[in-house]
Amino acid sequence: MKQVYLDTFGCQMNVADTDRMELLLFHSGYIRTGEAQDADLILINTCSIRDKAEQKIYSLARNLKPLKEVNPDLILGFTGCLAQQEGEQFLEKMPFVDLVIGPDGVEHIVRLVDEVKEKNVPVVRTQFDTDTNYKIPELSGETPLKPGSTTFVNIIKGCDKYCTFCVVPFTRGREKSREVEEIEQEVRLLVSRGAREVVLLGQNVNAYGKRGLKRPVPFHELLYRIASISGLERLRFTTSHPKDFTRECISAYQDLDILVNHLHLPVQSGNNRILKEMRRMHTVEEYISIIEELKTAVPDMGLSTDIIVGYPGESESEFEDTLVLMEKIKFNNSYMFSYSPRPNTPAQDFPDSVPQSVKSARLQRTIELQKKLTLEQGEKFIGKEVDVLVESESFKSGADFRGRNAQYWSVNFTGDKRQISPGDMVKVVVEEASGHVLRGRGVL
Ligand code: 5AD
Ligand code: SF4
Repeated sequence: MKQVYLDTFGCQMNVADTDRMELLLFHSGYIRTGEAQDADLILINTCSIRDKAEQKIYSLARNLKPLKEVNPDLILGFTGCLAQQEGEQFLEKMPFVDLVIGPDGVEHIVRLVDEVKEKNVPVVRTQFDTDTNYKIPELSGETPLKPGSTTFVNIIKGCDKYCTFCVVPFTRGREKSREVEEIEQEVRLLVSRGAREVVLLGQNVNAYGKRGLKRPVPFHELLYRIASISGLERLRFTTSHPKDFTRECISAYQDLDILVNHLHLPVQSGNNRILKEMRRMHTVEEYISIIEELKTAVPDMGLSTDIIVGYPGESESEFEDTLVLMEKIKFNNSYMFSYSPRPNTPAQDFPDSVPQSVKSARLQRTIELQKKLTLEQGEKFIGKEVDVLVESESFKSGADFRGRNAQYWSVNFTGDKRQISPGDMVKVVVEEASGHVLRGRGVL
Protein backbone atom coordinates (compact mmCIF):
# COMPACT_ATOMS: atom_id res chain seq x y z
CA MET A 1 0.00 0.00 0.00
CA LYS A 2 1.05 3.60 -0.54
CA GLN A 3 1.46 5.84 2.47
CA VAL A 4 -0.38 9.06 3.28
CA TYR A 5 0.66 11.53 5.97
CA LEU A 6 -2.24 13.63 7.26
CA ASP A 7 -2.05 16.61 9.60
CA THR A 8 -4.95 18.71 10.90
CA PHE A 9 -5.20 22.30 12.09
CA GLY A 10 -8.26 23.99 13.58
CA CYS A 11 -11.68 22.81 14.61
CA GLN A 12 -13.45 19.46 15.06
CA MET A 13 -14.99 19.81 11.59
CA ASN A 14 -11.47 19.62 10.21
CA VAL A 15 -10.65 16.59 12.34
CA ALA A 16 -13.78 14.90 10.93
CA ASP A 17 -12.78 15.91 7.38
CA THR A 18 -9.29 14.46 7.87
CA ASP A 19 -10.80 11.17 9.12
CA ARG A 20 -13.00 11.11 6.04
CA MET A 21 -10.01 11.64 3.73
CA GLU A 22 -8.15 8.85 5.53
CA LEU A 23 -11.08 6.52 4.93
CA LEU A 24 -11.54 7.47 1.26
CA LEU A 25 -7.81 7.14 0.59
CA PHE A 26 -7.66 3.81 2.43
CA HIS A 27 -10.20 2.45 -0.05
CA SER A 28 -7.99 3.60 -2.88
CA GLY A 29 -4.83 1.93 -1.54
CA TYR A 30 -3.28 4.39 0.94
CA ILE A 31 -2.44 3.64 4.56
CA ARG A 32 -1.79 6.43 7.06
CA THR A 33 1.76 6.97 8.31
CA GLY A 34 2.95 9.13 11.19
CA GLU A 35 6.18 10.02 9.37
CA ALA A 36 6.00 12.71 6.68
CA GLN A 37 9.32 11.61 5.15
CA ASP A 38 7.93 8.10 4.43
CA ALA A 39 4.82 9.38 2.65
CA ASP A 40 3.84 9.20 -1.03
CA LEU A 41 1.11 11.73 -0.33
CA ILE A 42 1.05 14.51 2.28
CA LEU A 43 -2.18 16.34 3.04
CA ILE A 44 -2.33 19.23 5.47
CA ASN A 45 -5.88 20.12 6.46
CA THR A 46 -5.74 23.84 7.16
CA CYS A 47 -7.53 26.49 9.22
CA SER A 48 -7.87 30.22 8.65
CA ILE A 49 -9.96 31.33 11.61
CA ARG A 50 -7.19 33.62 12.89
CA ASP A 51 -3.96 34.95 11.41
CA LYS A 52 -1.84 32.83 13.77
CA ALA A 53 -3.27 29.59 12.30
CA GLU A 54 -2.54 30.86 8.79
CA GLN A 55 1.08 31.74 9.60
CA LYS A 56 1.66 28.31 11.20
CA ILE A 57 0.50 26.62 8.00
CA TYR A 58 2.73 28.67 5.70
CA SER A 59 5.68 27.90 7.92
CA LEU A 60 4.84 24.16 7.84
CA ALA A 61 4.56 24.34 4.03
CA ARG A 62 8.06 25.83 3.84
CA ASN A 63 9.36 23.08 6.13
CA LEU A 64 7.84 20.38 3.91
CA LYS A 65 9.35 21.78 0.71
CA PRO A 66 12.68 19.88 1.07
CA LEU A 67 10.75 16.56 1.05
CA LYS A 68 9.54 17.39 -2.47
CA GLU A 69 13.15 18.01 -3.52
CA VAL A 70 14.26 14.61 -2.14
CA ASN A 71 11.25 12.80 -3.61
CA PRO A 72 9.87 14.49 -6.75
CA ASP A 73 7.03 11.90 -6.92
CA LEU A 74 5.71 13.04 -3.55
CA ILE A 75 2.29 14.71 -3.82
CA LEU A 76 1.93 17.60 -1.39
CA GLY A 77 -1.57 18.96 -0.84
CA PHE A 78 -3.28 21.57 1.33
CA THR A 79 -6.97 21.16 2.09
CA GLY A 80 -9.52 22.97 4.25
CA CYS A 81 -10.30 26.60 5.03
CA LEU A 82 -6.98 28.32 4.22
CA ALA A 83 -6.85 26.42 0.91
CA GLN A 84 -10.40 27.62 0.14
CA GLN A 85 -9.61 31.20 1.12
CA GLU A 86 -6.41 31.43 -0.91
CA GLY A 87 -7.10 29.12 -3.91
CA GLU A 88 -4.71 29.94 -6.77
CA GLN A 89 -2.91 32.46 -4.56
CA PHE A 90 -1.78 29.60 -2.34
CA LEU A 91 0.05 28.14 -5.34
CA GLU A 92 1.55 31.52 -6.17
CA LYS A 93 2.93 31.76 -2.64
CA MET A 94 3.96 28.07 -2.49
CA PRO A 95 4.64 26.99 -6.10
CA PHE A 96 6.00 23.57 -5.05
CA VAL A 97 2.52 22.51 -3.85
CA ASP A 98 0.48 20.01 -5.96
CA LEU A 99 -3.02 20.26 -4.55
CA VAL A 100 -5.15 23.04 -3.07
CA ILE A 101 -8.60 21.82 -2.04
CA GLY A 102 -11.39 23.58 -0.12
CA PRO A 103 -13.58 21.78 2.44
CA ASP A 104 -16.15 20.74 -0.21
CA GLY A 105 -13.39 18.94 -2.12
CA VAL A 106 -12.83 16.39 0.67
CA GLU A 107 -15.30 13.92 -0.85
CA HIS A 108 -13.39 14.10 -4.17
CA ILE A 109 -9.91 13.64 -2.70
CA VAL A 110 -9.15 10.37 -4.51
CA ARG A 111 -10.07 11.74 -7.94
CA LEU A 112 -8.11 14.95 -7.33
CA VAL A 113 -4.96 13.05 -6.27
CA ASP A 114 -5.31 10.90 -9.43
CA GLU A 115 -5.65 14.05 -11.52
CA VAL A 116 -2.34 15.37 -10.21
CA LYS A 117 -0.68 12.03 -11.00
CA GLU A 118 -2.12 11.84 -14.52
CA LYS A 119 -1.62 15.43 -15.60
CA ASN A 120 1.46 16.16 -13.55
CA VAL A 121 0.27 19.72 -12.94
CA PRO A 122 -0.99 21.36 -9.74
CA VAL A 123 -4.74 21.12 -9.16
CA VAL A 124 -6.85 23.75 -7.37
CA ARG A 125 -10.43 22.88 -6.40
CA THR A 126 -12.36 25.50 -4.48
CA GLN A 127 -15.89 25.37 -5.83
CA PHE A 128 -18.69 24.70 -3.36
CA ASP A 129 -21.16 21.80 -3.71
CA THR A 130 -24.27 22.68 -5.65
CA ASP A 131 -26.49 20.12 -3.86
CA THR A 132 -29.11 21.51 -1.51
CA ASN A 133 -28.24 19.03 1.19
CA TYR A 134 -25.06 17.49 2.54
CA LYS A 135 -24.28 13.82 1.95
CA ILE A 136 -21.53 11.64 3.35
CA PRO A 137 -22.05 8.32 1.59
CA GLU A 138 -21.33 5.28 3.74
CA LEU A 139 -18.41 3.18 2.59
CA SER A 140 -18.86 -0.52 3.08
CA GLY A 141 -16.01 -2.92 3.80
CA GLU A 142 -12.87 -2.64 5.85
CA THR A 143 -12.00 0.54 7.72
CA PRO A 144 -8.70 1.73 9.19
CA LEU A 145 -10.54 3.78 11.80
CA LYS A 146 -12.07 2.35 14.94
CA PRO A 147 -14.22 4.98 16.65
CA GLY A 148 -13.21 5.97 20.17
CA SER A 149 -15.74 5.64 22.96
CA THR A 150 -16.67 9.22 22.10
CA THR A 151 -16.96 10.19 18.45
CA PHE A 152 -18.06 13.10 16.27
CA VAL A 153 -20.80 13.03 13.63
CA ASN A 154 -21.29 15.91 11.20
CA ILE A 155 -24.92 16.96 10.85
CA ILE A 156 -24.62 20.35 9.12
CA LYS A 157 -21.86 22.15 7.30
CA GLY A 158 -21.32 25.80 6.43
CA CYS A 159 -22.76 28.88 8.10
CA ASP A 160 -25.22 31.58 7.03
CA LYS A 161 -24.77 33.85 10.03
CA TYR A 162 -22.04 36.12 8.66
CA CYS A 163 -20.81 37.43 11.99
CA THR A 164 -18.67 40.36 10.90
CA PHE A 165 -15.37 38.96 12.22
CA CYS A 166 -15.70 35.41 10.92
CA VAL A 167 -14.24 33.82 7.82
CA VAL A 168 -16.25 30.58 8.05
CA PRO A 169 -19.18 31.58 5.77
CA PHE A 170 -16.57 32.31 3.09
CA THR A 171 -14.52 29.16 3.56
CA ARG A 172 -17.23 26.61 4.27
CA GLY A 173 -20.08 28.08 2.25
CA ARG A 174 -23.83 28.00 2.86
CA GLU A 175 -25.54 25.91 5.52
CA LYS A 176 -26.41 22.41 4.33
CA SER A 177 -27.87 19.66 6.48
CA ARG A 178 -27.65 15.89 6.21
CA GLU A 179 -30.84 13.83 6.01
CA VAL A 180 -31.86 12.44 9.42
CA GLU A 181 -31.86 8.87 8.11
CA GLU A 182 -28.25 9.19 6.94
CA ILE A 183 -27.17 10.55 10.35
CA GLU A 184 -29.08 7.78 12.17
CA GLN A 185 -27.43 5.16 10.00
CA GLU A 186 -23.96 6.56 10.74
CA VAL A 187 -24.63 6.68 14.48
CA ARG A 188 -25.91 3.06 14.47
CA LEU A 189 -22.78 1.98 12.63
CA LEU A 190 -20.49 3.81 15.05
CA VAL A 191 -22.30 2.32 18.05
CA SER A 192 -21.97 -1.16 16.54
CA ARG A 193 -18.21 -0.51 16.28
CA GLY A 194 -17.88 0.53 19.92
CA ALA A 195 -18.80 4.23 20.20
CA ARG A 196 -20.75 5.06 23.37
CA GLU A 197 -21.00 8.84 23.06
CA VAL A 198 -21.76 10.86 19.95
CA VAL A 199 -21.12 14.59 19.54
CA LEU A 200 -23.30 16.07 16.79
CA LEU A 201 -21.14 18.52 14.95
CA GLY A 202 -21.64 21.67 12.90
CA GLN A 203 -20.66 25.32 12.79
CA ASN A 204 -24.16 26.13 13.99
CA VAL A 205 -26.05 22.93 14.82
CA ASN A 206 -29.18 24.82 15.89
CA ALA A 207 -29.73 25.83 12.27
CA TYR A 208 -29.98 22.13 11.39
CA GLY A 209 -32.70 20.98 9.02
CA LYS A 210 -34.25 24.32 8.15
CA ARG A 211 -34.06 23.79 4.42
CA GLY A 212 -32.68 21.57 1.68
CA LEU A 213 -33.92 18.31 3.23
CA LYS A 214 -36.80 16.17 1.90
CA ARG A 215 -38.79 17.82 4.71
CA PRO A 216 -37.59 20.42 7.22
CA VAL A 217 -36.55 18.82 10.53
CA PRO A 218 -35.90 21.07 13.53
CA PHE A 219 -32.73 20.39 15.48
CA HIS A 220 -34.55 19.25 18.63
CA GLU A 221 -36.40 16.60 16.60
CA LEU A 222 -33.03 15.26 15.44
CA LEU A 223 -31.94 15.08 19.10
CA TYR A 224 -34.97 12.96 20.04
CA ARG A 225 -34.42 10.68 17.05
CA ILE A 226 -30.71 10.11 17.74
CA ALA A 227 -31.29 9.68 21.48
CA SER A 228 -33.54 6.70 20.79
CA ILE A 229 -30.77 4.70 19.08
CA SER A 230 -30.10 1.67 21.21
CA GLY A 231 -26.61 1.23 22.62
CA LEU A 232 -25.91 4.97 22.62
CA GLU A 233 -25.23 6.14 26.16
CA ARG A 234 -24.41 9.81 25.77
CA LEU A 235 -25.29 12.56 23.33
CA ARG A 236 -23.74 16.03 22.95
CA PHE A 237 -23.72 18.72 20.30
CA THR A 238 -21.55 21.63 19.31
CA THR A 239 -21.50 24.52 18.31
CA SER A 240 -24.65 26.50 19.03
CA HIS A 241 -25.67 30.05 18.20
CA PRO A 242 -27.74 31.91 20.85
CA LYS A 243 -30.07 33.33 18.18
CA ASP A 244 -31.13 29.84 17.04
CA PHE A 245 -31.17 28.16 20.45
CA THR A 246 -34.79 27.21 21.13
CA ARG A 247 -37.02 26.41 24.13
CA GLU A 248 -37.58 22.97 22.58
CA CYS A 249 -33.87 22.39 22.99
CA ILE A 250 -34.15 23.19 26.71
CA SER A 251 -37.00 20.67 26.94
CA ALA A 252 -34.83 18.09 25.19
CA TYR A 253 -32.28 18.39 28.03
CA GLN A 254 -35.11 17.68 30.48
CA ASP A 255 -36.64 14.82 28.50
CA LEU A 256 -33.58 12.98 27.24
CA ASP A 257 -31.46 11.27 29.89
CA ILE A 258 -28.63 10.62 27.47
CA LEU A 259 -28.39 14.26 26.38
CA VAL A 260 -25.74 15.27 28.91
CA ASN A 261 -25.91 18.48 30.87
CA HIS A 262 -23.41 20.60 29.04
CA LEU A 263 -23.83 23.43 26.56
CA HIS A 264 -21.18 25.29 24.60
CA LEU A 265 -22.83 28.59 23.71
CA PRO A 266 -20.47 31.21 22.26
CA VAL A 267 -21.27 34.74 23.43
CA GLN A 268 -18.18 36.56 22.02
CA SER A 269 -18.79 39.76 24.03
CA GLY A 270 -20.68 40.98 27.09
CA ASN A 271 -21.47 44.36 25.59
CA ASN A 272 -24.56 45.16 23.50
CA ARG A 273 -22.90 47.68 21.20
CA ILE A 274 -20.11 45.24 20.37
CA LEU A 275 -22.57 42.37 19.88
CA LYS A 276 -24.51 44.56 17.45
CA GLU A 277 -21.33 45.55 15.62
CA MET A 278 -20.41 41.86 15.40
CA ARG A 279 -23.86 41.18 13.94
CA ARG A 280 -24.55 38.49 16.50
CA MET A 281 -28.28 39.28 16.38
CA HIS A 282 -28.95 39.02 20.11
CA THR A 283 -28.39 41.14 23.19
CA VAL A 284 -26.60 40.36 26.44
CA GLU A 285 -30.00 40.26 28.18
CA GLU A 286 -31.33 37.69 25.69
CA TYR A 287 -28.24 35.54 26.25
CA ILE A 288 -28.67 35.73 30.03
CA SER A 289 -32.34 34.86 29.71
CA ILE A 290 -31.58 31.65 27.75
CA ILE A 291 -29.03 30.65 30.37
CA GLU A 292 -31.39 31.42 33.26
CA GLU A 293 -34.15 29.36 31.68
CA LEU A 294 -31.74 26.54 31.05
CA LYS A 295 -30.34 26.58 34.59
CA THR A 296 -33.85 26.59 36.04
CA ALA A 297 -34.77 23.57 33.93
CA VAL A 298 -31.46 21.76 34.42
CA PRO A 299 -29.69 23.01 37.58
CA ASP A 300 -26.43 21.09 37.08
CA MET A 301 -25.90 22.38 33.51
CA GLY A 302 -22.21 22.97 32.69
CA LEU A 303 -21.59 25.95 30.43
CA SER A 304 -18.75 26.97 28.18
CA THR A 305 -18.32 29.77 25.68
CA ASP A 306 -16.13 31.56 23.12
CA ILE A 307 -14.93 35.11 23.72
CA ILE A 308 -13.22 37.64 21.48
CA VAL A 309 -11.39 40.60 23.01
CA GLY A 310 -10.18 43.68 21.17
CA TYR A 311 -12.85 43.78 18.46
CA PRO A 312 -12.47 47.02 16.41
CA GLY A 313 -13.60 49.96 18.53
CA GLU A 314 -13.94 47.98 21.79
CA SER A 315 -13.38 50.43 24.66
CA GLU A 316 -11.99 49.47 28.04
CA SER A 317 -15.41 49.61 29.67
CA GLU A 318 -17.02 47.62 26.84
CA PHE A 319 -14.35 44.99 27.36
CA GLU A 320 -15.03 45.00 31.10
CA ASP A 321 -18.70 44.20 30.37
CA THR A 322 -17.42 40.84 29.05
CA LEU A 323 -15.73 40.17 32.39
CA VAL A 324 -18.96 41.09 34.18
CA LEU A 325 -20.91 38.62 32.03
CA MET A 326 -18.36 35.87 32.61
CA GLU A 327 -18.68 36.36 36.39
CA LYS A 328 -22.45 36.34 36.15
CA ILE A 329 -22.78 33.17 34.08
CA LYS A 330 -19.86 31.37 35.74
CA PHE A 331 -18.69 29.46 32.69
CA ASN A 332 -16.86 26.21 33.40
CA ASN A 333 -14.60 26.97 30.50
CA SER A 334 -14.05 29.69 27.90
CA TYR A 335 -12.15 29.64 24.63
CA MET A 336 -10.70 33.15 24.54
CA PHE A 337 -9.22 34.92 21.53
CA SER A 338 -7.74 38.27 20.52
CA TYR A 339 -9.55 39.69 17.52
CA SER A 340 -7.70 38.93 14.30
CA PRO A 341 -8.76 40.64 11.02
CA ARG A 342 -9.71 38.07 8.37
CA PRO A 343 -9.89 38.38 4.59
CA ASN A 344 -13.34 38.97 3.02
CA THR A 345 -15.01 39.68 6.37
CA PRO A 346 -16.85 43.01 6.92
CA ALA A 347 -14.87 43.72 10.09
CA GLN A 348 -11.67 43.70 8.09
CA ASP A 349 -12.68 47.07 6.66
CA PHE A 350 -13.04 48.62 10.12
CA PRO A 351 -9.82 50.03 11.55
CA ASP A 352 -8.26 47.35 13.78
CA SER A 353 -8.17 50.05 16.42
CA VAL A 354 -7.21 48.21 19.59
CA PRO A 355 -3.41 48.06 19.85
CA GLN A 356 -1.87 44.59 20.10
CA SER A 357 -0.54 45.33 23.59
CA VAL A 358 -4.05 46.26 24.79
CA LYS A 359 -5.55 43.15 23.16
CA SER A 360 -2.95 41.00 24.91
CA ALA A 361 -3.60 42.66 28.26
CA ARG A 362 -7.37 42.15 27.86
CA LEU A 363 -6.88 38.54 26.84
CA GLN A 364 -4.72 37.98 29.90
CA ARG A 365 -7.44 39.42 32.15
CA THR A 366 -10.10 37.12 30.66
CA ILE A 367 -7.78 34.13 31.05
CA GLU A 368 -7.11 35.00 34.70
CA LEU A 369 -10.81 35.44 35.43
CA GLN A 370 -11.69 32.17 33.69
CA LYS A 371 -9.00 30.36 35.70
CA LYS A 372 -10.64 31.58 38.90
CA LEU A 373 -14.15 30.61 37.68
CA THR A 374 -12.96 27.17 36.55
CA LEU A 375 -11.36 26.55 39.92
CA GLU A 376 -14.53 27.61 41.78
CA GLN A 377 -16.71 25.38 39.59
CA GLY A 378 -14.27 22.45 39.81
CA GLU A 379 -14.09 22.59 43.59
CA LYS A 380 -17.85 22.10 43.76
CA PHE A 381 -17.34 18.54 42.51
CA ILE A 382 -14.97 17.60 45.34
CA GLY A 383 -16.45 14.80 47.46
CA LYS A 384 -19.18 14.16 44.88
CA GLU A 385 -19.70 11.12 42.71
CA VAL A 386 -19.68 11.75 38.94
CA ASP A 387 -20.34 9.45 35.97
CA VAL A 388 -17.27 9.23 33.75
CA LEU A 389 -17.22 7.75 30.28
CA VAL A 390 -13.76 6.20 30.02
CA GLU A 391 -11.88 7.32 26.90
CA SER A 392 -8.43 5.85 27.48
CA GLU A 393 -5.79 4.90 30.02
CA SER A 394 -4.36 7.97 31.74
CA PHE A 395 -0.84 9.25 31.11
CA LYS A 396 -0.90 11.19 34.38
CA SER A 397 1.07 9.80 37.29
CA GLY A 398 -1.16 8.45 40.03
CA ALA A 399 -4.10 7.90 37.68
CA ASP A 400 -5.11 4.85 35.65
CA PHE A 401 -7.83 6.17 33.34
CA ARG A 402 -9.12 9.36 31.83
CA GLY A 403 -12.54 10.30 30.57
CA ARG A 404 -15.15 13.03 30.89
CA ASN A 405 -18.07 13.69 33.16
CA ALA A 406 -21.41 14.96 31.85
CA GLN A 407 -20.39 18.63 32.16
CA TYR A 408 -17.35 17.95 29.95
CA TRP A 409 -14.68 18.08 32.63
CA SER A 410 -11.69 15.88 31.99
CA VAL A 411 -11.45 13.35 34.82
CA ASN A 412 -8.32 11.35 35.70
CA PHE A 413 -8.97 8.55 38.14
CA THR A 414 -7.60 5.42 39.73
CA GLY A 415 -9.34 2.12 39.08
CA ASP A 416 -8.87 -1.59 38.61
CA LYS A 417 -7.36 -2.27 35.18
CA ARG A 418 -8.80 -5.80 35.21
CA GLN A 419 -12.32 -4.45 35.54
CA ILE A 420 -12.37 -1.15 33.63
CA SER A 421 -11.75 -0.45 29.96
CA PRO A 422 -12.40 2.39 27.47
CA GLY A 423 -16.11 2.71 26.70
CA ASP A 424 -17.18 1.87 30.26
CA MET A 425 -19.22 4.30 32.32
CA VAL A 426 -17.60 4.49 35.76
CA LYS A 427 -18.65 6.21 38.97
CA VAL A 428 -15.79 8.35 40.25
CA VAL A 429 -15.52 10.13 43.58
CA VAL A 430 -13.81 13.46 42.92
CA GLU A 431 -10.95 14.24 45.29
CA GLU A 432 -9.17 17.17 43.63
CA ALA A 433 -9.71 19.89 41.02
CA SER A 434 -6.94 21.68 39.16
CA GLY A 435 -7.36 23.66 35.98
CA HIS A 436 -10.09 22.08 33.91
CA VAL A 437 -9.20 18.62 35.20
CA LEU A 438 -10.73 16.66 38.06
CA ARG A 439 -8.98 13.79 39.82
CA GLY A 440 -10.62 11.01 41.71
CA ARG A 441 -11.15 7.38 42.57
CA GLY A 442 -13.24 4.96 40.53
CA VAL A 443 -15.86 3.23 42.72
CA LEU A 444 -17.74 1.27 39.98
N1 5AD B 1 -10.62 36.72 15.50
C1 5AD B 1 -10.61 36.12 16.71
N2 5AD B 1 -11.41 35.09 17.04
C2 5AD B 1 -12.25 34.63 16.10
N3 5AD B 1 -13.17 33.63 16.12
C3 5AD B 1 -13.75 33.56 14.91
N4 5AD B 1 -13.24 34.51 14.09
C4 5AD B 1 -12.31 35.19 14.81
C5 5AD B 1 -11.45 36.28 14.52
N5 5AD B 1 -11.46 36.89 13.35
C6 5AD B 1 -13.45 32.83 17.30
C7 5AD B 1 -14.91 33.01 17.76
C8 5AD B 1 -15.55 31.71 17.33
C9 5AD B 1 -14.40 30.75 17.49
C10 5AD B 1 -14.56 29.45 16.77
O1 5AD B 1 -13.29 31.46 16.99
O2 5AD B 1 -14.92 33.15 19.16
O3 5AD B 1 -16.67 31.37 18.11
FE1 SF4 C 1 -18.56 32.24 12.27
FE2 SF4 C 1 -20.71 33.45 13.35
FE3 SF4 C 1 -21.02 31.33 11.72
FE4 SF4 C 1 -19.99 30.96 14.16
S1 SF4 C 1 -22.08 31.71 13.70
S2 SF4 C 1 -19.20 30.09 12.22
S3 SF4 C 1 -18.81 32.86 14.46
S4 SF4 C 1 -20.19 33.34 11.15
